[in-house]
Amino acid sequence: MRIGLLTGGGDCPGLNAVIRAVVRQGEAHYEHQLVGFRHGWRGLVEDEQMPLSISATRGILHRGGTILPTSRTNPFKDPAQVEAVLATIERVGIDALVAIGGEDTLGVAARLASDHGVAVVGVPKTIDNDLSGTDVTFGFDTAVQIATDAIDRLHTTAESHDRVMVVEVMGRHAGWIAVHSGLAGSADVVLVPEEPFDVGAVCDRIAQRHSRGAGFSIVVVAEGAVPKEGTMATQDPGVDEFGHVRLGGIGNLLGPEIEERTGFETRVTILGHILRGGTPTAFDRILATRFGLAAADAAQARDFGKMVALAGTDIVRIPIGDAIKELKTVPRELLEQLEVFLG
Ligand code: F6P
Repeated sequence: MRIGLLTGGGDCPGLNAVIRAVVRQGEAHYEHQLVGFRHGWRGLVEDEQMPLSISATRGILHRGGTILPTSRTNPFKDPAQVEAVLATIERVGIDALVAIGGEDTLGVAARLASDHGVAVVGVPKTIDNDLSGTDVTFGFDTAVQIATDAIDRLHTTAESHDRVMVVEVMGRHAGWIAVHSGLAGSADVVLVPEEPFDVGAVCDRIAQRHSRGAGFSIVVVAEGAVPKEGTMATQDPGVDEFGHVRLGGIGNLLGPEIEERTGFETRVTILGHILRGGTPTAFDRILATRFGLAAADAAQARDFGKMVALAGTDIVRIPIGDAIKELKTVPRELLEQLEVFLG
């Protein structure tokens, strides 16, 4: 079989581990021929190929980013691009496509499968951990570890200067990174997209904490967190070239607001893309490797239209549609557990 591979959407630590595992399992066990498409779906639109083999993928397990570059191209925005994707598949003789990506990339894979009969296998990826159908996505553990390390470091400098530290982490629609790093790093306030926050209540909590003798506070805020309507001025974030709202910046609005309302000196750190750059943790390397092996197995079994997923400790296959129909947000129960440790 000839298998095409692509990585789409934002990059994520562990992408190379998936690529390496699909190639190893495919070439060594199934005699697959592997073809990489560069820059996500754009690689199929423009027929931008890259040969993949065991020897070409040596030494990449620990490397961040993706050796197949990525993009947020969505061919369904232009029917001519869909035609170009189908023509490339036909011309190159692709028997199955392994699409490694998040909601958008897998959404394209699902439509190509359902509307055009393309043989696809999905592999879930996002540091945000907001894809349904899998207990966790690779990249999330790495992002949480980086955020936790940063919070630990900010703790000591906050303590030394009697400051409030606002730490903004990624998390567009879901606060998984904020909640996990907030728990692991013992934050005092955690703000997530799931629940609009009241800046007055945030400041009261900080003031109470300081009146009980604490000299500093750590506030973790997800980039997608929003204030309750009318409680704080925000700015229109604008959209990027693919129509995604450009986030990142709530921390810069929140910091001065906290300083003004509480009188405590406040500093802001935006972790942003640091959370998804660099080497994956051991957990993410192993999860990504298991996903890659399972994706090659699914292709060989011709079990198409499926996404590999983690269920407990098992790797399973679920319909791609199940993963993209709704976002996996942080459940109320976990937010309540977190609440025990705040303030
Ligand atoms: O991959 C998801 C994500 O990490 C979001 O949390 C964030 O908003 C987005 O990527 C930013 O990505 P980019 O700057 O590459 O568009």
